[in-house]
Amino acid sequence: MVVAETERLLLVKVTLDDAPFFVKLMNSPKWIRYIGDRNIRTTEDAKAHLKRTILKSYKESGYGFYKVLLKQEKNKVIGISGIVKREQLNDPDIGFGFLPKYEGKGFGYESSQAILKLARDTFKLEKISAITVAENTNSIKLIEKLGLVYQKKVKPFEEDEELLLFAKNL
Ligand SMILES: CC(C)(COP(=O)(O)OP(=O)(O)OC[C@H]1O[C@@H](n2cnc3c(N)ncnc32)[C@H](O)[C@@H]1OP(=O)(O)O)[C@@H](O)C(=O)NCCC(=O)NCCS
Repeated sequence: MVVAETERLLLVKVTLDDAPFFVKLMNSPKWIRYIGDRNIRTTEDAKAHLKRTILKSYKESGYGFYKVLLKQEKNKVIGISGIVKREQLNDPDIGFGFLPKYEGKGFGYESSQAILKLARDTFKLEKISAITVAENTNSIKLIEKLGLVYQKKVKPFEEDEELLLFAKNL
């Protein structure tokens, strides 16, 4: 199901059939380095992960992460972009991740702008946040380009390191 369209991209709901793509994405070097190794190695691992995370979010919140398809490459799936409400944070947060080949081409910004519009107009969210490790300069650049402003350091997940929290009123 297509939830949004931009000049170059389609944002589409994730299904269990996307599991092989998630294995690839979640084992890409920057994902492992900046988001963390979630031990997703097989299609079965990814299916279980999707049930626990994105598919659960659709059911509970109505929104979630969407796959990003590149129109000019026959709708190839190149990344994910979306919103999640985590128990550990007060406000829903925006997130994104692309296969290495598709970074640095403005797809993060283009997809996230559509996500912010959905967040405000469709899901009626009043505030959005974003979290990232301080070393992820590409992510911070994008978060700030989207108009979110640095708030404070947080440590929402026990096993992970300290993160920077950004926020913006919609
Ligand atoms: C963080 C991440 C999502 C950023 O995505 P991105 O698509 O590279 O980010 P942007 O949309 O900001 O684009 C980056 C650059 O592409 C450039 N660009 C190239 N071609 C472009 C085009 N046709 N249109 C627009 N911008 C273009 C932009 O100028 C921009 O550079 P600038 O910020 O210096 O202006 C990406 O690096 C990524 O997937 N990282 C790994 C996963 C990750 O860390 N996720 C975040 C976890 S918190």
